[in-house]
Amino acid sequence: MTNPIVDPVLARIDADMDGAVDRLLDLLRIPSISTDPAYKAECDRAADWLVSDLQSLGFEASKRATPGHPMVVGHMDGDGPHVLFYGHYDVQPVDPLGLWDRDPFDPALEDTANGRVIRGRGSSDDKGQLMTFVEACRAWKAVHGALPCRITIFFEGEEESGSPSLVPFMQDNAKELTADIALICDTGLFGDKTPTIITQLRGLLGEELTIKGPSKDLHSGMYGGAAMNPIRVLSRVLASLHDHTGRITIPGFYDGVPELPGQVKGQWDALGFDAANFLGEVGLSEPAGEQDRTALEMIWSRPTCEINGIWGGYTGDGFKTVLPAEAHAKISFRLVGDQDPDAIRANFRKMVEDMLPPDCEASWEGHGNSAASQMSIDHPAFEAARAALSQEWPQPAAYVGCGGSIPIAGHFREVLGMDAMLIGFGKDDDQIHSPNEKYDLSSFHKGTRSWARVLAEVSQL
Ligand code: BES
Ligand code: ZN
Repeated sequence: MTNPIVDPVLARIDADMDGAVDRLLDLLRIPSISTDPAYKAECDRAADWLVSDLQSLGFEASKRATPGHPMVVGHMDGDGPHVLFYGHYDVQPVDPLGLWDRDPFDPALEDTANGRVIRGRGSSDDKGQLMTFVEACRAWKAVHGALPCRITIFFEGEEESGSPSLVPFMQDNAKELTADIALICDTGLFGDKTPTIITQLRGLLGEELTIKGPSKDLHSGMYGGAAMNPIRVLSRVLASLHDHTGRITIPGFYDGVPELPGQVKGQWDALGFDAANFLGEVGLSEPAGEQDRTALEMIWSRPTCEINGIWGGYTGDGFKTVLPAEAHAKISFRLVGDQDPDAIRANFRKMVEDMLPPDCEASWEGHGNSAASQMSIDHPAFEAARAALSQEWPQPAAYVGCGGSIPIAGHFREVLGMDAMLIGFGKDDDQIHSPNEKYDLSSFHKGTRSWARVLAEVSQL
């Protein structure tokens, strides 16, 4: 089916792929690690790079200060609906650096058994993804002299560190950031070829727990047996968080967890998800969550409690017979439905404190706190986007869940009263947050083409 408006834009995207890749490589060279204060100036530099790139294609764009890393906001007028696009320019730390096959901030194209990839930190999460939209706008502007609708671009530099400045910034700039629909590019395809629109994201809650026992580290021969060991206490606490069926034991934890509607379960079952293959890719074989759930439910619609880190005592080379004064763990919860992060935090702390033996005390540091979000797929932009994506990819677009968390997806509704639609082109094997992160060249290319098509459809609403 030919389309005199979109086809020349798609042709322009195809012709400009080398230029688009060069621009992305340029952005990937900036080590904008938001969690590490040592990279503050680099985050600033990534924001400057984006401002100048947006300006070069005709956006009125500026870097906007926050108490943390800056936001980037750009506007371009056009007829039709007002669309806001969100992405994040910050990236995760690169450690363990020794497991990378190249410098994470010296990105390059590489040929692999599965095709060409762009290798480097942030290539998939989220610089490559956000540039798919920018490149679609660039091609549209080059071909037609204007965008198909009014567009606001909103880039954040703190997503990977819990978005501390986001809600105040959205509140302070509500009028400027409110549009008819928000588009977010920070998620993936289903498998390799099925474009997806994400209907639900899990929320996230983090806790850092320290258990203190003796007033100082002790010799385990002199005191062992008589002195309470805080690592022993921590181990007991952590081991009790799941029962033998995989259910989480914190009182009230499942309050607000909905049963998956039959219709959605039917859709998910029809996706033909191959759990054995999904786990096999990472050296596993058995789904480890609640044993009465499918693997897809475990990652998309059920809550979790994961221990992300645990330390204490002596962990260096050799051996030391120490009885440590402290033990630590980082624990995170993925939340679904109407689970209340504050209530879960309080119930978790109480459960741990009730388990402490004499002479031990717990202290806490809370991290990120975002509830799950549910998208409203009855907004007309969803069917418009589904039709557009189905034209670009070999498979029709699917509505799917996502186990990850993107706090802004909920904030668009709560703070600005607008709907958000999540479309992304990452793949399961992109190794986001891990060594050797990559983005398939085909994700970058077809992602850019997808946005051109989505804009064409959405601008008609
Ligand atoms: N892009 C990811 C979200 C994501 C993860 C999408 C997996 C698709 C699959 C996002 O940048 C991210 O990593 N979010 C963090 C939350 C944040 C508050 C640290 C996450 O999900 O852990
Ligand atoms: Zn991301």
